[in-house]
Amino acid sequence: MANAVVIMAAGLGTRMRSERIKVLHEVAGRSMILWCVETALALNPDRIVLVLGHQRQAVEAVVRAAYPNAPISIAVQEQQLGTAHAVLCAKEALADFSGNVFILSGDVPTLSVETLKRLDASSADVAMFGMRLASGANYGRLIFDDGGLAEIVEARDCTPEQLKVRDVNSGIYRIQSEFLFDALQGVSSNNAQGEFYLTDLIAESRKRGLSTEAIVLEGDAAAELEGVNDRIDLAKAEARIQKTLVQAHMRAGVTFLAPERVRLEAGVQIGADSVIEPDVALLQHTVVGAKCVIGQGAILKNAKLADGVLIKPYSHIEDSQIGDHAQVGPFARLRPGSILDRDVRLGNFVETKKSHLHEGVKAGHLSYLGDADIGAGTNIGAGTITCNYDGVSKFQTVIGKDVFIGSDSQLVAPVVVEDGAYVGAGTTVTDTVNAGALAISRVRQRQIEGWVERKNQAREQARKESGSKK
Ligand code: UD1
Ligand code: MG
Repeated sequence: MANAVVIMAAGLGTRMRSERIKVLHEVAGRSMILWCVETALALNPDRIVLVLGHQRQAVEAVVRAAYPNAPISIAVQEQQLGTAHAVLCAKEALADFSGNVFILSGDVPTLSVETLKRLDASSADVAMFGMRLASGANYGRLIFDDGGLAEIVEARDCTPEQLKVRDVNSGIYRIQSEFLFDALQGVSSNNAQGEFYLTDLIAESRKRGLSTEAIVLEGDAAAELEGVNDRIDLAKAEARIQKTLVQAHMRAGVTFLAPERVRLEAGVQIGADSVIEPDVALLQHTVVGAKCVIGQGAILKNAKLADGVLIKPYSHIEDSQIGDHAQVGPFARLRPGSILDRDVRLGNFVETKKSHLHEGVKAGHLSYLGDADIGAGTNIGAGTITCNYDGVSKFQTVIGKDVFIGSDSQLVAPVVVEDGAYVGAGTTVTDTVNAGALAISRVRQRQIEGWVERKNQAREQARKESGSKK
């Protein structure tokens, strides 16, 4: 049978205490609503209808940017009159649809498609997920009778006896479309909250002789269905998704020395036999090749690493590319636009920005290399700085192949150092250094023999004179 999905996401989520609507809060670097849409898309539905209200332009923009070609319609719910009203808002978008409608909430980011598909396996006309919890809290209670699930009663409408029920409604359903939209028209708001409750459809379906089934999950499986209502729930969802992501990478051949102490985002790829040390963050679309080692405390954001790369501890790498077998850090900083070809070595406190370091370049210590192109095999001495900024504009430094830049040199851009040239330590390079030449700009060293002895004698003399005056 054909499938459609309705995702309810119009509410603000007041318990988040945020200016931002709840479904745009992120879990593993991705908005909650996108986790939900991703799961919905995996069902391969004819159509997904997002019911939006608060901040709907912002939510739609996030979803469209992530899934520009997916069959997603937006239904607007101006006023949040309840979950039945929310789904009814999707009626028009599904006017020509006949089949099963899956109803999800935008604030359940941990729901997996494997779980969702279990609703499909049910032969009942109306199927939904329940959760068996230690305490029912504010969830709707599942009330069973001899015929199975008879009704769902919202916590605020429960009798004291019903409140004791620990099997509760997750808010995830699969309902046949004709019954759904017909029955929704008849839902009233005659309840403790004065809202139109979607949950009323359970009793209504029984009344019409349809079959209902509650698939009640327990323990860890139930935790997957729990929604995010506040920041405590958000942290729980984050932990759960982190665990899922790390385990998927471990199954694919990646070693994590401390799996609970890394932070991964959803779009990250890691090659087999790579080792991820503790406290590493791999963010956005970072790609780590095979047989890489990512040292403790490293942060990689949109970094692309080839194979066999060694990132030593506490390096920070953003929007940069690193070739095979390169070594970086510890404490290196690669700012956006850094391209390191194979076998490049950067040591501690080296910062690069918009610079291309060709094969085998070495910069071992304490350098700033910005807006530079550095040829293969070149050695950059400790403390080298490309002076790329004159207070107004940025300029290029071009260094050829097999160049030796002595320690503590400044290269005042725009400037060129040609192939095979040498720059003596402490030089300020302002003009082209020709191929094979030595550039040196420091003053020649003078030697003054006996200077220390004479200075000490003079000091002693002065001390004596000031003492005799007293
Ligand atoms: C709902 C269920 C409850 C269930 C719980 C599970 C009803 C009446 N109750 O309660 O049985 O245990 O979910 O989390 O359905 N929304 C709209 N428009 C509205 C109202 C809600 O889009 O008018 C959206 C919210 O943004 C949210 C979702 O629907 O994403 C659930 O709404 P919420 O207010 O959290 O429902 P609960 O009261 O928690
Ligand atoms: Mg809720």
